[in-house]
Amino acid sequence: EQYASPAAASLQAAYEIAQLIRDKQAKGERAVLGLATGSTPKRVYKELIRLHREEGLSFKNVTTFNLDEYFPMQPGAVQGYRHFMQENLFNHIDIDQANCHIPDGSIPTELVRSHGEQYETMIADAGGIDFQLLGIGRNGHIGFNEPGSHSSSVTRLITLDMATRMDAAAEFGGIANVPKKAITMGIGTIMKARKIILLAWGENKAAIVRQAVEGPVTEFVPASWLQAHGQVKFMMDDACAGEL
Ligand code: GLP
Repeated sequence: EQYASPAAASLQAAYEIAQLIRDKQAKGERAVLGLATGSTPKRVYKELIRLHREEGLSFKNVTTFNLDEYFPMQPGAVQGYRHFMQENLFNHIDIDQANCHIPDGSIPTELVRSHGEQYETMIADAGGIDFQLLGIGRNGHIGFNEPGSHSSSVTRLITLDMATRMDAAAEFGGIANVPKKAITMGIGTIMKARKIILLAWGENKAAIVRQAVEGPVTEFVPASWLQAHGQVKFMMDDACAGEL
């Protein structure tokens, strides 16, 4: 779907999330959200905060699982995704912090494998992800599933591509400071979500979005796996949809 601006698309995405939360509330059930970081979803979170403040949208029945985290990453670090989520969403809504899950980038390497397995188990125990929000990297990654990621991959440690580290360099004050690895939900984890929305803005994402949407389904463009999901929506602004 094409929107005139990132703001218009973000409004629609936030509205759909709010609708899910309210539907679940009406049934006395929990809503399980898969959340993303990066610049792209920030406006969606702003709008959810607004809905909380001005329209009384409550997040008490919401459980969240973030896609990924750099590795290694200290818990309080400003570049970390825990910090990002606190600042951009969790600190401003009435969600119970105990229900906000993000892969832990501060654990020793030898514990990462079991941490990934636990993450998968927690998602399953929560009933699976109702709604997954995604951005897309310049190389077509979703979460931190870089090109080459297998369609059945699960939460695990991956090595970041040079392109991904370069895109993060400014935030870390130089490429040398960007972690070389990350923990990410797998393609298989993402594909199990019952509904998926991928957001992409601007002309610098246009070429990769075209490959993901119109190109062949290939591990070289991880977002192209989404073509095999029945309930996925790509939401773009005009600049990004320009090459479709
Ligand atoms: C990082 C995140 C991805 C995100 C991507 C794009 O790699 N791990 O989840 O989609 O950046 O970031 P941005 O939205 O800032 O373009």
